[in-house]
Amino acid sequence: MDKLIPTVNKLQDVFNTVGQDQIDLPQIVVVGSQSSGKSSVLENLVGCDFLPRGSGIVTRRPLVLQLVNVPYDENNAGPRAQFLHLPNQVFTDMTEVRREIERETDRLAGSNKGIVKTPIHLRISSPDVLSLTLVDLPGITKIPVGDQPADIETQTRNLVYEYISKPNSIIVAISPANVDIVNSESLKFAREVDPKGTRTIGVITKIDLMDRGTNSLEILTGRVYPLRLGFVGVVNRSQEDTQANKPIAESLKEEAEFFGGHPIYRTIQQHCGTATLAKVLNQLLLQHIRDHLPSIKTKINALISQTEHELASYGQMSAGSDLVSKSSRLLKMITVFANEFTSSIDGSASEMS
Ligand code: GDP
Ligand code: NA
Ligand code: MG
Repeated sequence: MDKLIPTVNKLQDVFNTVGQDQIDLPQIVVVGSQSSGKSSVLENLVGCDFLPRGSGIVTRRPLVLQLVNVPYDENNAGPRAQFLHLPNQVFTDMTEVRREIERETDRLAGSNKGIVKTPIHLRISSPDVLSLTLVDLPGITKIPVGDQPADIETQTRNLVYEYISKPNSIIVAISPANVDIVNSESLKFAREVDPKGTRTIGVITKIDLMDRGTNSLEILTGRVYPLRLGFVGVVNRSQEDTQANKPIAESLKEEAEFFGGHPIYRTIQQHCGTATLAKVLNQLLLQHIRDHLPSIKTKINALISQTEHELASYGQMSAGSDLVSKSSRLLKMITVFANEFTSSIDGSASEMS
């Protein structure tokens, strides 16, 4: 089964490269209002600093992030990052990754708070991550600022809908602990597209910022807002931590100490911490892929025959023409991945039986 997610990631790359999106592969989508901590949660899951984050509108294009778990390599210690728009460049410096995201955001969305729906694709390989595909989205925005058009709320809502309404998206609905959960935009959104709550997980951020004497016990244990897959509470780095360049490993350690040393949270560890969240998400993703294998297989097969058909219709052209060689390359790629995919499925089926 653990071979399945890397295969799905590769397949997604192929489809992105050839500009096809007939295959909606499962992915984890992070939603929430602006500054609720979406980018921080993602960064903690990845375990390294690379996302632009902070107060105000920072995330202005969707970021589709593939995390790939690779074996430890002493010659290549540390995470390696690659952008789809820069296929020949490998980044090992995460500060450079952040700069590239900012440059690429400004390139399409301008530098004055504009939001654009065209995603940036980034892949990070590291021995320290679980294989997951995650999407960071701009926050739901109410009032236009900078170059934003008057209908910015509609635009951001549509953008969020586009990602979370796909039945194969797992929704990470973020709500900050210091705002009443009843007003949570992300949970309202999630309920609209996933009324049964089969693919929504609630994440409560900023637990460290709650008023003294209050805690999130009731919310995390599902007694305030019923959510089938439940809630996980997290503590991310504060703005101050970020300014002081606090390393992520240190903040994860402090998070574990915060929950482990707390008289209430330590009794509900299954609802607490970034490590718990990562485990829950990985399980959900595997389950999701397993449930959707038949339809993914059907779509792959349809794409293969469509490409074969196109190739046949070029029959009269010279075999060396660009169009023909592009199509046959595509067919080859798809066939290779379809085979790999099928053997992963069969492998996981026999593992399960
Ligand atoms: P986004 O706009 O939803 O992507 O939110 P960001 O991840 O950019 O976070 C917004 C601000 O809140 C940043 O300054 C973060 O440092 C801060 N922040 C996020 N999560 C937490 C948390 O759990 N605790 C504290 N103290 N600050 C947080
Ligand atoms: Na922000
Ligand atoms: Mg963000």
